[in-house]
Amino acid sequence: MMRRKITIVGAGATGATAAHILAARDYADVVLTDIKEGLPQGKALDLNQMGPVLGFEPRITGTNSYEETAGSDVVVITAGLPRSPGMSRDDLVTTNEKIVGSVTEQIVAQSPDCTLVILSNPLDAMCHVAKSVSGLAKEHVFGQAGILDTARFRTFIAWETGASVRDVQALVLGGHGDQMVPVVSAATVGGVPLRKLVSEERIRLMVERTAKGGGEIVQLLGTSAWYAPGAAVAEMVDAILLDQKRVLPCTAYLDGEYGIDGLYIGVPVKLGAGGIEEIVELDLSDDEQAALEQSAEAVRDVVGVLST
Ligand code: LAC
Repeated sequence: MMRRKITIVGAGATGATAAHILAARDYADVVLTDIKEGLPQGKALDLNQMGPVLGFEPRITGTNSYEETAGSDVVVITAGLPRSPGMSRDDLVTTNEKIVGSVTEQIVAQSPDCTLVILSNPLDAMCHVAKSVSGLAKEHVFGQAGILDTARFRTFIAWETGASVRDVQALVLGGHGDQMVPVVSAATVGGVPLRKLVSEERIRLMVERTAKGGGEIVQLLGTSAWYAPGAAVAEMVDAILLDQKRVLPCTAYLDGEYGIDGLYIGVPVKLGAGGIEEIVELDLSDDEQAALEQSAEAVRDVVGVLST
């Protein structure tokens, strides 16, 4: 079987981490493209030379152009400015709209049948840009945020309960902003509801730390996180290219589901070869539904600033 092709736009820390994880999986060729001369070429060379050590084929290409991206099955867009301390994701909207718009145009010119996975911030609004510029169906344009936000919540729950993170199930919905919605009713440890194990006050603190989890790292590092975001997008690419039918929280275009219309926001979806094959509708508590609607309003405000 011919190997599949993944393009990652943006050879910064997040793009390179995703390239690292996907290359090590060894089922697809990876193209890393960036406007900065030398950066994608250098990182690709280094990643290729990790192949003999870790045992994967050295088939990563680094380039400043889009020609080498032609015929990609999945394209991950990480391009754009990251946050600096004190900045919200929404402060990036105008700059990153231009970058994501231009990247999307050049990508679909080379790969008209690709699936686009967006990581650039503000995430939910950037998905709108990619959808409108690409003209691709909503099933094939979506974003990564929920897996990262959920991974943060699961980490805090594992620390709090002393249980293995592998046995912690959780779900974070809504926009990728401070108003995201960690669904406490869906959080379990080995099948036991979180509320049976941890006090409301401790849960409240974990929920708050999750919602501000990206900012906590920006404060420490002076720029955005990359390890967990890179791993999260790799999990999505696996689900699509290996047709895994994973049920994962992703930033999807809603057409009335959850009572939200015409908006990208984080919800659980079934992810497989067809991209978003289903939007999974959970029974949310009244509080959770209200929080989701509030988060949707915050996303609408940012989308309203877009010129596309
Ligand atoms: C974060 C950024 C990448 O949440 O959005 O870490």
